[in-house]
Amino acid sequence: MTDLPSKNVDFVNPRAALNLKGRTCSIVSVGSYVPDRCMTNADLEKLVDTTDEWITTRTGIRERRIAAEDQFTSDLAAEAATKALKKANISAESIDLIIVATITPDMPFPSTACLVQQKIGATRAAAFDLEAACSGFIYALEVAQQFIMSRTYDTVLVIGAEKLSSIVDWQDRNTCVLFGDGAGAVILQNRPESHGLLTACMGADGGKASLLSMPGGGSRHPATAQSLQDRLHFLRMDGKETFKSAVTAMHRAAKEALARCQIEISQIKCVIPHQANLRIMSAVADRLGAQEHQLFINVDKFGNTSAASVAIALDQAVEQGRIERGDLVLLVVFGAGLTWGAAVIEW
Ligand code: ACO
Repeated sequence: MTDLPSKNVDFVNPRAALNLKGRTCSIVSVGSYVPDRCMTNADLEKLVDTTDEWITTRTGIRERRIAAEDQFTSDLAAEAATKALKKANISAESIDLIIVATITPDMPFPSTACLVQQKIGATRAAAFDLEAACSGFIYALEVAQQFIMSRTYDTVLVIGAEKLSSIVDWQDRNTCVLFGDGAGAVILQNRPESHGLLTACMGADGGKASLLSMPGGGSRHPATAQSLQDRLHFLRMDGKETFKSAVTAMHRAAKEALARCQIEISQIKCVIPHQANLRIMSAVADRLGAQEHQLFINVDKFGNTSAASVAIALDQAVEQGRIERGDLVLLVVFGAGLTWGAAVIEW
């Protein structure tokens, strides 16, 4: 990451600071979908040796949504996309590109984005998946922004979608209490008169890849009887180290995004962090100097939905009137890889 200016001067117009030259990557609409089935901490007490008290105090999570057996990541993604399309009042045929951020694709190939393309009838769209774990939605936003600013595409659908319940080890109390299923989607377009994604920054540290991974199912450990017995097809995590890295990386990413726009945290109406753990979010907010009323939290309801997390939260924040047109919003994420990122949006 670049060095950050120590103190920013008077409030400036972030668009001017970024020299956007009339072209914008506007977020025309946002939509989200979570499955109906709700799994509470009390339900988990029946599965593993845990308590509602432990989960709530360590993570802030009270319940999470779990997809039906015959409901896949592409189904969750298509539901969120359909809602976003409806709000934007545009047809699926007008989409030029679909990017799906996910670590739980329906299958290794074809991409979940292609399956979504078919499901929503986006017949003109190119489609691909992007994998940056819980940071995937911001990575995908930045990639989409490049296509729009370069005039390659005019309408891009970005989706974060996960069926994490399919890779969670339901015998491992260290991890199974943390995750949930869901999807969020945004429609991005160049609308010079409108608002948009001002900046996004991304980072990664492959040296810490082992902190959070699913070792099986790829070329290193293809599925075998042994890999199944060794439980390699489930998510694994070093929680303590992940926690420390998350706070440091999210803080730095957020500072960099604010510095690029030359704005202060006090100008941000709503801070939407990746909803992994309430304590991580509070620590990041503290370091940024954000006030409690600026922070948006829904981890209590949905747990960690990885790439879907900030997209679902953004939709809810808008629906609840926490964000209005013209407000500045800071998204900040962290995930396996390790990866991290932050984005500033003029809503
Ligand atoms: N119920 C009861 N006890 C538990 C549970 C549980 N569900 N899970 C772990 N424990 C026990 C452990 O076995 C351990 O016991 P021991 O000390 O006897 O060995 C003890 O609790 C650990 O407790 P703490 O050290 O207090 O746990 P900690 O404060 O580190 O909290 C947690 C654990 C919640 C996992 C935390 O480390 C965390 O949130 N880490 C970050 C996780 C994260 O954000 N991951 C997602 C990244 S995003 C992505 O890409 C998917």
